[in-house]
Amino acid sequence: MHEPVKIGICGLGTVGGGSLRLLRGNAGEIARRAGGPLQVARIATRRPESVAVDGAAAIGGDPMALARDDAIQVVVETMGGFDPAHAVVAEALARGKHVVTANKALIAERGNELFAIAAKNGATLAFESSVAGGIPIIKALREGLAANRIEWLAGIINGTGNYILTEMAAGGRPFAEVLAEAQALGYAEADPGFDVDGVDAAHKLTIMAAIAFGIPLRFADTFTEGISALTPEDLTYAEELGYRIKHLGIARRSAGGIEMRVHPTLISKRWLLSRVSGVDNAVVVKGHAVGTTLYQGPGAGADATASAVVADIIDIARQLRAGASRPLSAPLNGRPEAEAPPAVPMDSIESECYLRIPVLDRMGVMAKITRVLESHAISIEAVIQKEVHGGSVPIVLLTHGVAEGRMNAAIAELQSLADVQGRIGRIRVAPFPAGD
Ligand code: HSE
Repeated sequence: MHEPVKIGICGLGTVGGGSLRLLRGNAGEIARRAGGPLQVARIATRRPESVAVDGAAAIGGDPMALARDDAIQVVVETMGGFDPAHAVVAEALARGKHVVTANKALIAERGNELFAIAAKNGATLAFESSVAGGIPIIKALREGLAANRIEWLAGIINGTGNYILTEMAAGGRPFAEVLAEAQALGYAEADPGFDVDGVDAAHKLTIMAAIAFGIPLRFADTFTEGISALTPEDLTYAEELGYRIKHLGIARRSAGGIEMRVHPTLISKRWLLSRVSGVDNAVVVKGHAVGTTLYQGPGAGADATASAVVADIIDIARQLRAGASRPLSAPLNGRPEAEAPPAVPMDSIESECYLRIPVLDRMGVMAKITRVLESHAISIEAVIQKEVHGGSVPIVLLTHGVAEGRMNAAIAELQSLADVQGRIGRIRVAPFPAGD
């Protein structure tokens, strides 16, 4: 019989608690797949008194002491945030311990440094659960699609945001009520602003892009726009134009380098992605050899995320038992930073756009709008003019492709027209044909 692999868990919130439950509840099958038993030998939690001790685990409050415990082989970091997670992970890796983390902010923003520590010390830093909850998208990109030149990927990668948009589209429920529900179900971040403002999705996109395109983690270069400016009318008008609105993360190889952006996006109703609803996430990846592949599943929640955490633990246990010397995570895609393609600046990225322009209902307004658009060389593909709401009418139009910088200038000029009453809404259209 093999000696158990000794695990330490730091943080027993939604994800840590779910992982502990899964390790205990499915121990037999997990041991078979890991080539022998796993033992949760130590736990660090802010409320040690509230944890039922099962005889195997030592419970304490200090994650750094856990990271320094020579008996622990695999440190599971499910605390979230940077402090103390960063120091704990760095310490464990420096000691040559393997680390499994669900912390997308940590990987996206400090990962370059942490992977370097891991590589130097022959340790694995595994992070499957940091992106898209239970969907094994990291393994798909790194292993299943390893033979491909990835052309683009696009994903609904924030469960809370998708839950809110789904409920808004279904009609009637106030934003705050839906958000409270997502929090109660353990989907939302501790600060739900991260979900709604797109930061959480930008972390996940940064991580996927690094693996897909062999570039360093470049969170600062990922353009990020949230969903809070969307109105229920936008969802309705988009539907009339043949689209649904999803909060999408897009990474794409283009002539100038790699585009990385997160923003509300119009996607054709014919695309399967447009039907992904509730807390589900989905990622579409286009590889030059395989074509287009789609991965869908629960993107948040205790059990789904635990599924990915425990999969990483099993990988590492197998690696330990096989005596493998090469860490799984080193480096993200094996290319010197100087050779990585640059990030494409958002201003130069071209998109077709949906504009919702609230105007006073009077003669000549439409002509003024088209004149402004024409002066910026923006051509219109479709227009719908809606009924009057207390003197103000939304003009809704779709443009042909236009560079972001040019569209920003046009929107600023339109916004300054005396006839424009209120903020102009702009939503970019997905840059892929529905059949792609
Ligand atoms: N708050 C995140 C979400 C949790 O809603 O997707 C999973 O990363």
